[in-house]
Amino acid sequence: DKGGWSSFMAKEVSEQPEAIANTIRGRLQDGQVVIPELDGLDDLFVGINRVIITACGTASYAALVGKYAIEQWARVPVDVELAHEFRYRDPVIGDDTLVVSISQSGETMDTLMAVKYARERGARTLSICNTQGATIPRESDAVVYTHAGPEVAVASTKAFSAQITALLLLGLHMGRVRGTVADASTDVAELQALPDKIARVLNEEQEHVAQLARWMADTRSVLFLGRHVGYPIALEGALKLKEISYIHAEGFAAGELKHGPIALIEPGQPVFVLVPSPRHSALVHSKVVSNIQEIRARGARVIVVAEEGDAAVLPYADEVIHIPLAGAMFEPVLAVVPLQIFAMALATAKGLDVDQPRNLAKSVTVE
Ligand code: M6R
Repeated sequence: DKGGWSSFMAKEVSEQPEAIANTIRGRLQDGQVVIPELDGLDDLFVGINRVIITACGTASYAALVGKYAIEQWARVPVDVELAHEFRYRDPVIGDDTLVVSISQSGETMDTLMAVKYARERGARTLSICNTQGATIPRESDAVVYTHAGPEVAVASTKAFSAQITALLLLGLHMGRVRGTVADASTDVAELQALPDKIARVLNEEQEHVAQLARWMADTRSVLFLGRHVGYPIALEGALKLKEISYIHAEGFAAGELKHGPIALIEPGQPVFVLVPSPRHSALVHSKVVSNIQEIRARGARVIVVAEEGDAAVLPYADEVIHIPLAGAMFEPVLAVVPLQIFAMALATAKGLDVDQPRNLAKSVTVE
């Protein structure tokens, strides 16, 4: 039931504040993150030397955000690998490896086979899943459920933001258990503030972004740039656009620009740039601003997603989409929302079915 919304996707995008609140609920205790499902499983986190996160599609972009968070908080090296690549090589894994799988459906065959393979090789396995009792969690040593509620639209939205949230929780939980996070009170406050901040992005930017998408309905290609945790969000923004509006879109790490992609910039080329807050790192921020200057000088039409009050981007942006202030690891959950709205509004402007894009299935249960 679409509950009065024009599509399941529109409904699911709007449900994100609730989805994130549900994913966090019951997992915070006295300024710390304590995931009750992981009670008694500390050995999954203390006896390991590395983490591999495996997933497909959108879930693999959540995984990339998870890499930054887990490395920062739990001080253990993390690699992200697409499930279908992981299984068909000879990865170096064993009982010192925790393999984290991420899947909305819990039934993606590529991811399931990667989990089985990891177990056969003696690795410990933990899954992040949105579907209670699905196959992947049943095949894993432990599961952390995202409580985003059923996701019907083929293009993943609320499951993605809930996956990132679950990974942030996991990183802080692991950090506590490993003794690398002594005081999580600031991060806990950031988590608690996320639902309201997402609601603000929805309320304040929805119409602006939808209008932008309508203006751009004839666009043939859109590029997305991000740095640090903005990089996976650039990848996700591009995937959403490909999936539902059938427009060529690519996401890049902003630092890669001059290693190739800048050759694509010609006058009028729309480029979304995810600008990290200058409060997190003045250096990273200034690097992104200079990337913006480089593409602007070549005629790109620059659409910036930036923190409220970031005046440095204004002289070089054709459009600015604002997100509320948030800690570095928490920004991706906010920054992805306008990109979801953009893809949805553009597909709608083209008269396409946003819930059932051509050639795609909600759950890919074959390899
Ligand atoms: O159910 P899963 O999370 O395992 O699905 C993984 C991908 O197939 C999925 O995220 C896909 O990329 C979506 N259509 C993205 O919107």
